[in-house]
Amino acid sequence: MDKLLIAGGVPLSGEVAISGAKNAALPLLCAALLTKEPVTFTNVPHLNDIGTMLKLLAQMGVKVSREAAQGTTKVGAGDTVTLDASGLNNAVAPYEMVKTMRASILVLGPLLARAGEARVSLPGGCAIGARPVDQHIKGLTAMGAEIAVEQGYVHARATRLKGARLFTDMVTVTGTENLMMAACLADGETVIENAAREPEVVDLANCLVAMGARISGAGGDVIRIQGVDALHGTTHRIMPDRIETGTYLCAAAATGGEIRLTGASSTWLDAVIDKLMDAGCEVIAERDAIRLKAPKRLTAVSIRTAPYPAFPTDMQAQFMAINAVAEGTAVMRETIFENRFMHAVELIRLGADIKIDGNTAFVTGRATLDGATVMATDLRASASLVIAGLVAQGETLIERIYHLDRGYEGLEQKLVTLGANIRRVK
Ligand code: EPZ
Repeated sequence: MDKLLIAGGVPLSGEVAISGAKNAALPLLCAALLTKEPVTFTNVPHLNDIGTMLKLLAQMGVKVSREAAQGTTKVGAGDTVTLDASGLNNAVAPYEMVKTMRASILVLGPLLARAGEARVSLPGGCAIGARPVDQHIKGLTAMGAEIAVEQGYVHARATRLKGARLFTDMVTVTGTENLMMAACLADGETVIENAAREPEVVDLANCLVAMGARISGAGGDVIRIQGVDALHGTTHRIMPDRIETGTYLCAAAATGGEIRLTGASSTWLDAVIDKLMDAGCEVIAERDAIRLKAPKRLTAVSIRTAPYPAFPTDMQAQFMAINAVAEGTAVMRETIFENRFMHAVELIRLGADIKIDGNTAFVTGRATLDGATVMATDLRASASLVIAGLVAQGETLIERIYHLDRGYEGLEQKLVTLGANIRRVK
């Protein structure tokens, strides 16, 4: 099991490239199931989750080709992936693959729409919560699918899905994405109300429209889809990863540094940039780059996570690391997931002063943290521990960093480029 060894106390400085967005790439790869023609994606991040999804699609009979961007192996250059689902012959997502990546549920809608059937293992819970998929099932059932949940699998069949008016009980990102993909080939119009407004939903809609789908309203909370008989191929560039961007901004803020992130867009980070400025950072947005200059000492910022465009739950852990060394006390409320404070106990091992009360964390900043051995529990919690390790005096050893490899391309290489003293140890 790999570990990360960090010698903290070094302010980050310099420039790195931001990779394509994991949470845009995962649904986009599944969209290729909707057509018999090849679909090519560029700027695909080189991540374990992407590899898992490509393996899942390949065992369904999808032809997969993946090569590094032409002529460069520079970290963050992204891969080019071409998928050809003309030979789709196995509409099954087995437990062994789904249990390692919950986003596998995103094959359900496309398989039903394209093949009229699907057997998809229920994704297990994960560290941050139960994460049921009842809204995915409710919406597909409303579109005429016959769905039974037996022996841990979702068994779904539909001769042809019918357009319907759908309302999700809560905002669900992959739920919205699954239903939108299924609706592309349904008979008639589908309206998704209370839809997720995340930029990754918009990136998916843009690609589907380029494939011949008829979608309007993506990015708002009502999305209309007119079903068509078939979709065709296209080439689509994955949008930049706004959470990776926010993570490096937080690392620079916490270490008192000054960095520039290229291939990043500030458009989708208003809530995060707002909070970084409240914390005392100077943030300058350029056309396709972002610069941050940290203050001598950060000011604590209270946050409340909520669906886009509000403060993203995927940035909560990173901000807890910022507040752990900021001046003052921050109140941090997590409203999306029921158990997304696992990083808190690990930050406390580094000396942080954090009190948890239900879904609220009270963080009182300290002048600094002290290095220790800590354990990563989920993707964004791991990022929080890396940030804290970069700040802490002395050495921090982070265990179980396979979580990080799922969602951050070339993390230690990018941090070394920014001057961090960090290396991977066996
Ligand atoms: C997506 O997960 C992201 N993953 C998550 O990022 C992100 O944290 C989350 O959206 C919220 O923004 C991908 O896009 C691959 P939800 P998703 O459905 O779609 C409940 C990361 O770190 N819910 O929006 O699974 C659910 O339990 C990951 O990159 C139901 O109850 O999240 C949660 O409390 C972590 N029933 C809330 O809704 C359902 O059918 C929001 O979940 C669906 C969701």
